[in-house]
Amino acid sequence: MKKVTILIGSPRKNGSTSILAAEAARALNELGIATETVFLNDLKIKGCQACYWCKKSDVAECAVKDEMQKIHRLVQESDGLIVASPIYFSGVTAQTKAWLDRMFPYVSMNLVPKLPGSKKVSFIFTQNQPDERLFRGGIEAFMYAVGLSGMSVKDHLIACDLDAGIKPPVTGRQELLDKAYRIGRDLPG
Ligand SMILES: Cc1cc2nc3c(=O)[nH]c(=O)nc-3n(C[C@H](O)[C@H](O)[C@H](O)COP(=O)(O)O)c2cc1C
Repeated sequence: MKKVTILIGSPRKNGSTSILAAEAARALNELGIATETVFLNDLKIKGCQACYWCKKSDVAECAVKDEMQKIHRLVQESDGLIVASPIYFSGVTAQTKAWLDRMFPYVSMNLVPKLPGSKKVSFIFTQNQPDERLFRGGIEAFMYAVGLSGMSVKDHLIACDLDAGIKPPVTGRQELLDKAYRIGRDLPG
């Protein structure tokens, strides 16, 4: 593994999700693996326009020319991905879901994955609620959908009881920092 892209779906650059994703990046960097972190909130990405151009022409390309092109390029040149999102109303954030919908070019109509190579993906989720089972349905559905692109789903962390500025900061939750570090460390394995 040479390069891993880290996609962050939180609008907070210094929030719990970003801090945990940085731990995963640190582990990868210590293994000599380059990381590039993208805050999805910074990008101008439209939702999928359902034009089915990627299906009609059977190409792994999107007809909508916006900043998602940069993410498609990054995904293609990376050996792995870490997707980190807070839970908003039982699922991933709108920014993260917009990214997922725009991964449609990598899924054929008969659900045959089109992403070349054997890329791996792991996930970090953060939530306020202390019970990690609460949003498992939404989380599992999201990870399954990402896997339809052809990436193999490696691991995930659901970091609970977090609300920046309201609950104790994630920087004091060593067990979560350690788990996030392991998400990065174990991605190549
Ligand atoms: C609009 C909104 C919706 C949220 N919905 C949920 C939710 O359904 N369940 C939950 O446990 N936390 C929910 N939260 C809390 C966040 O998931 C939690 O604080 C998370 O750690 C924020 O990550 P961040 O610090 O990276 O922004 C919500 C927060 C916001 C702003």
